[in-house]
Order: sequence, then C-alpha cells, then structure tokens
Amino acid sequence: MSFPYLRPRRLRKKLYLRDLVAETRISPRDFIYPIFVREGIEEPEEISAMPGQHRWPVNEKLVEHVQKALDLGVHSVLLFGVPESKDELGSPAYDENGVVQRAVRLLRRELGDEVVIFTDVCLCHYTTHGHCGLLGKRCVGGFCEYIVENDTTLELLGKVAVSHAKAGADVVAPSSMMDGMVKAIREALDKEGFTDVAIMSYAAKYASAFYGPFRAAAENAPQHGDRRTYQMDPRNGEEAVKEVALDVQEGADILMVKPALAYLDVIRRVREAFPHYPLAAYNVSGEYSMLKVAAREGLVDEKKIVLEVLHAIKRAGANIIITYHALEAAEWLREGLDQKLF
Ligand code: PBG
Repeated sequence: MSFPYLRPRRLRKKLYLRDLVAETRISPRDFIYPIFVREGIEEPEEISAMPGQHRWPVNEKLVEHVQKALDLGVHSVLLFGVPESKDELGSPAYDENGVVQRAVRLLRRELGDEVVIFTDVCLCHYTTHGHCGLLGKRCVGGFCEYIVENDTTLELLGKVAVSHAKAGADVVAPSSMMDGMVKAIREALDKEGFTDVAIMSYAAKYASAFYGPFRAAAENAPQHGDRRTYQMDPRNGEEAVKEVALDVQEGADILMVKPALAYLDVIRRVREAFPHYPLAAYNVSGEYSMLKVAAREGLVDEKKIVLEVLHAIKRAGANIIITYHALEAAEWLREGLDQKLF
C-alpha cells in the first residue's frame, strides 16, 4: 500500500494524536544530574562558562539543591570534585576527607536512600598537570616525551573508587579512559567488600572539544599536551564498539557514550551491540552551553530545543541521560511541555 491510501500526515493532524503515536518518551527518572562540589567555599559560585550551573559548597546549600532535584523527580546525581590542592600523584582524589568523599557522606546522611549517588573517578581534577593518569617521562634514543602511564594509574583509580564507596557512593563512574580501568576498579572494590557498588564506565569517551566549558568549571584542563592518547578519536565509530566490549568483559554494569549529540550514531551502535545493558549518554558541557548561549541571544527557543535534544538522545538508544538541563527539563516535563511543544 502506498499513496493515496497511505498518508502519514493523518497521524500528525492533532497535538494529542501526535502524542499518542510518539515513539519516545522522556522522564526526570531518565536523568542523572551532574554537580560540581568545591572545597573551601561557603556559597554556591556561578560558572560563567555554563550559564545556570554552579559549584557547590559541601554544606546545607548542596543538600538543599539536591533536595530540589529530588522534588522534581530527579533522583540520581553525579559528583565532580574541585579540590583546593593538587599534586603530581592526584592524592586529594583518594583522601578520605576529600571534597567528593565529604559531599557523599553529607548527602547520604541527610537524604538517605532518596538519592542515588554516582561519583566521577578520575585523577584530572587532582593532578597539578591535569592529566587523567600519572605522568611519566619516556626517553628512547635520546628523544624524550611525557606519557600518561596507564598501568601505574590503575592502582590509584582503584583507591579513588574504594574511598568513594566507603563514603557511601552507589555507583562509581571511571572517566579516565585508561585501559583496564574497569577491571582494576572492580577488583579493588570487591577486595574491600564493596561487591554491590556498581560501575558506570565512560566506555566510549571521545577526545572532544565539547568539554571546553567543563574544563573551565572544574579546572581540570591538561597543563601541557592533550588527552588524545587515551580518549577516542572523533573519526572512529567501530572502535567504540571495541572499547565498550572491553569494559563489558571487565565487569561494567552501566555503559556510557560521551559526548552525546555529535555521537548519536555511536549511541545507536552501542545500543545494538549490547542490547542487554543500561546505556547512558553524557550530554556534555559544550552541548549545554551552546544551547544556553544561543537561547540567551534569542536565536532558538530554549525549552523546545532542549526537549528536542533530550528526546533525540533517547531515540538514538540511550536509556539514561546525564545532563545539566536535568532540573529545568524536569520542570518542563512536569508542566507537560513534552506533550505540548511537539
Ligand atoms: C574527565 C572528565 C571530563 C568530563 C567529565 N569528566 C572531560 C575531560 O576533561 O576530559 C566532561 C564533562 C562535560 O564536558 O560536561 N575526567
């Protein structure tokens, strides 16, 4: 059957009919809300590179903010630390009294099981050089270069994960793209008895310019060099399936593709290759700030464009969306805008 018997427009003629046949629905329950926690401040600090986002102090202000997320139906948060001091070995990352560890304990104590706490496990916020692993110097034939040492970093990532688990994290999220990181973290957690703490792996994470605003927010930009030796090349799609397969073998519980928007095809591929795993997509800082700035300039309709983007990420195959839009989008969903704007 084809035209004139089939006319796809018939199902588009009314708002509520379109809604009835819509294939994709999003809900605040799909969201993980990323939050920056900063040591040494008492008041939330605006992040100019990410309009509408703040760095939060580890005190009642943070608790109130997370409570607001809970009230909107967003029950998962992902914590990033901005420490006061850094060193070569990234040791503030696995300090029991580090900023993330204290934030986890505070949220757990005040909000109990209402909040699902994810923590970013990486060294880049805590190393003076800003790399995601330990930095070594390799000299071959008189030529010397700095390299991020994969294997010696693994042990430290295990320590970071254990310190987060001890504080009460539900899920640790390793983002350093070191080879073998999921296995090393799984073994470290299990050895300490944290067999029930899950791992959400940044399995296919690209070396992306879309992280620009985040690096301003978290002060984790590499001081020299870049992350291209450990993060993925944006030109590769097949390789993402290999990267994800390795993390699956190593014991990842939730998979992730990052960034989201320029990588919707990767989300789709991973969804098809691993249909039985929860799949998260990280709608990153650059994706967020582009829309915020364009909306502020009056170039786009913010609510429509944000809801369009979030539906697109889910349509591509992600069932979890990590997004700075989480609270606003949850409010718009509560007003039924997903039904009314399309
Ligand atoms: C690194 C890390 C990055 C992000 C989260 N964890 C980026 C990076 O500097 O490589 C980016 C998130 C965003 O842009 O929103 N551990």
